Amino acid sequence: MEAVINKEKVRVILNPVVLQNLCVMRDKDTDTQNVRIATRKITRCLLYEAAKNLPLVEKEVTTPLTTFRAKTIDPDTNIIISPILRAGLIFTDEAIDILPQACIRHIGMYRDEKTLKPVWYYNKVPMDVKDANDIYVYITDPMLATGNSMLAAINLYVEKGIPINHIKCICIISAPQGISNIQKHYPDIEIITASIDEYINEKGYIVPGMGDAGDRIFNTL
Ligand code: URA
Repeated sequence: MEAVINKEKVRVILNPVVLQNLCVMRDKDTDTQNVRIATRKITRCLLYEAAKNLPLVEKEVTTPLTTFRAKTIDPDTNIIISPILRAGLIFTDEAIDILPQACIRHIGMYRDEKTLKPVWYYNKVPMDVKDANDIYVYITDPMLATGNSMLAAINLYVEKGIPINHIKCICIISAPQGISNIQKHYPDIEIITASIDEYINEKGYIVPGMGDAGDRIFNTL
């Protein structure tokens, strides 16, 4: 059955630089180092897109020519980057470059090969959350396949009271089934991706996809 998705809530970044790097990372003949480089370049573009929801304030700045009020990210904003281990880690270097004020809260889940359901092994999401309205969360995973791990990660933050429009899923390659699964539970959440691929095969891989992202990024093929 074809997955039903609301494309209005999926931001597909079709920038030519993203597309060029997507070609490189998908290619089975690209070596690990170049998979990493291409992947990081895409993560940077997707993170910039995600950051569009951050609140701004004005700050007085003196240039060599004058003093004026410039816009900048509100320093009272708490930004959380939550990479889903292990492949989601590829986003973190770029994320802390772009958003040095962010904290990284790792989420450890692996996919049970038989059930394709997420199995928890690590959770750095804060237990007590103060001022949930000041928190912005970006959950990162290069592959959005069934969406089960992403859903489990979103649940953690929603349970802490963080508004749904402050939580974004950032995935490089997404399967329609994964998007549909997330939208069934959270119709208003925004997903930022570089591609909506065709389907998930019987082994749980996205087609055309890039194979196992963790293995290709961390050279464990
Ligand atoms: N995870 C991956 O790494 N690749 C897929 O195709 C699906 C899930």
